Amino acid sequence: MSEGNIKSILNEERLFQPPTDFVKQAALSATELEQRYALAAQDSNAYWEKMATDLIVWDKPWSQVLDDSKAPNYKWFSGGELNVSANCLDVHLETRADKTAIIFEGEQGGVRRISYAELTSEVSRFANALKASGISCGDRVVIYMPMVPEAVIAMQACARIGAIHSVVFGGFSAVALRDRINDAGARMLITADGGFRGGSPVELKRAADEALSGGCPTIERVIVLQRTKQDVPMKVGRDIWWSDAIADQCDECAPLPVEASHPLFLLYTSGSTGKPKGVQHGSAGYLLNARLTYETVFDYQETDVFWCTADVGWITGHSYVAYGPLAAGATILMYEGSPTVPDAGRFWKICETHKVTVFYTAPTAIRALMRFGDEVPESYDLSSIRLLGSVGEPINPEAWTWYHRVIGREVCPIVDTWWQTETGGIMMSPVPSVTATPPGSCTQPLPGIAADIVDDQGNTVTSPELGGYLVIRKPWPSMLQTIWGDNDRYIETYWEKFHGRFYVAGDSAHTDKHGNFWIMGRIDDVLNVSGHRLGTMEVESALVSHEKVVEAAVVGRPDEIKGEAIFAYVVPCGARPSGDDAKALVKELRAWVSKQVGPIAKPDNIRFADSLPKTRSGKIMRRLLRTIASGEAITQDTSTLEDPSILDQLRGED
Ligand code: WTA
Repeated sequence: MSEGNIKSILNEERLFQPPTDFVKQAALSATELEQRYALAAQDSNAYWEKMATDLIVWDKPWSQVLDDSKAPNYKWFSGGELNVSANCLDVHLETRADKTAIIFEGEQGGVRRISYAELTSEVSRFANALKASGISCGDRVVIYMPMVPEAVIAMQACARIGAIHSVVFGGFSAVALRDRINDAGARMLITADGGFRGGSPVELKRAADEALSGGCPTIERVIVLQRTKQDVPMKVGRDIWWSDAIADQCDECAPLPVEASHPLFLLYTSGSTGKPKGVQHGSAGYLLNARLTYETVFDYQETDVFWCTADVGWITGHSYVAYGPLAAGATILMYEGSPTVPDAGRFWKICETHKVTVFYTAPTAIRALMRFGDEVPESYDLSSIRLLGSVGEPINPEAWTWYHRVIGREVCPIVDTWWQTETGGIMMSPVPSVTATPPGSCTQPLPGIAADIVDDQGNTVTSPELGGYLVIRKPWPSMLQTIWGDNDRYIETYWEKFHGRFYVAGDSAHTDKHGNFWIMGRIDDVLNVSGHRLGTMEVESALVSHEKVVEAAVVGRPDEIKGEAIFAYVVPCGARPSGDDAKALVKELRAWVSKQVGPIAKPDNIRFADSLPKTRSGKIMRRLLRTIASGEAITQDTSTLEDPSILDQLRGED
């Protein structure tokens, strides 16, 4: 961001109160929440100590709650020891051994239910298999698997013996996998023959072989789960089937106590430039906040069936599939495949069949499913759902309202959760039984999270009209520890801008008159139009609120007069218009945005496409769009694009 403040133009006045029935049954009362805020404000270390005492089983107590001697490489709960897997599994065996931990549904059908006792045995057996393959504490293990229970078993098994896992999303290419294996220096790869996604088998083992044949000198062994039964070559001496690896293993494996800050996992995130960053998370602080936020934000109740649709390849799938809910003793649902197989009702059918109570997904999925009309979800019984969540991008008020009305039947609160791979757990979100929520805002930081918005000089921005850098003023337990193998990059990326005074999230945000936070997009994407600095979110939101628009992305294009002109890429409802129809719609949309948010935000160019370029986790690739809008040659890696064929449309060349 250069000089000047970012201006907020989105004007959302509605406020949704927590429904009375929801408040009555809530896990956390307004008074208890108040007490937590009060303690955290008075003494944040005391607050985290209390949570760590209440929520984690320790093998050895900590001697220092926060060691800041090497800031910003903070150490939480120094001297303490625990095992993360024991905290997710063994702790439940006395009271919940037969409770279902995982309900799994494959894309082709086929349901499995795994109890806490069974999961503990499976994890132990696999942990013994890892040990038998020579894996020990501190070794890195890369997991490249479909969304099946064995992915969680593999993660938990690593945690059980202190090995550091790094899950690579199954949709990534061989090249992306190889880079991550090599950066992590992994000794083992755990994969599958394939997985079912989008109606056909995905060839994971083939991609894994391609990655390894290109040079991954540190890999000694590959464990292969048989999922699709497709024919795959097995390299003698290196590859072993999962079933053979566990065949002779005992189903008990004592969890290894590790230091509180022992790395639990690395998770690679693309970042805006350069090579992927291995975000490193520790054990105790990460687990504590994954569990705490799960219970607080999702109003955890013993009878819940919690479905977070994220793949385990993303942080959301780590914190709210593999760790947080299991630490709480919850029942989670895992679904292997695509939301539109065999049709666009699949998600809702799963909710109906398994009586899902809490549903957590991304705005990109909501917008995609919204496109199929209300009739699809309305033909399923969604009455078991009591709470809805959103994560990953700003949810535009239009999608929020649809989610609330059609999926939530106007009785479910929505928690719009803001957080990042780096933060490990949810940082800002409504607490559903307490917070009055405007559609599109992630509302307030949770207790102990010192979020703030500052200007270029690091001063707090107080005016609701103005945006700035979203920062976190104090360390929190689930913060990233470093970037694997590159601590300088850690400091430079997250701390240097304000000389180590606070963590810089890289997002722009503003508050409203109620003190609620609104995320405006990534700082790097902020538009500068005639000296006005606008977040991308607000212009996109205005476009999407038009009845003929499904999705929109706006970027800046260099302009001699205005500095930047606004270039909008729009996915229209139905067929892409051409000729005079296209011209008419462009005119209509420009007038619409002008009316909704003001002439300043009126797009100079609008181009229609059947879809937008997105990363595999569903985020719009605005940097790529900027390159296209300015007519420059594409230098970015487009191999991970979900649909590479739309590039021609975006260039206006088809
Ligand atoms: C964006 C996902 C607005 C934001 C957990 C953040 C959001 C980045 C929200 C992190 C939200 C995530 N509202 N924006 N509720 N949640 N973001 O690392 O830009 O995949 O910095 O973590 O997604 O994405 P990541």
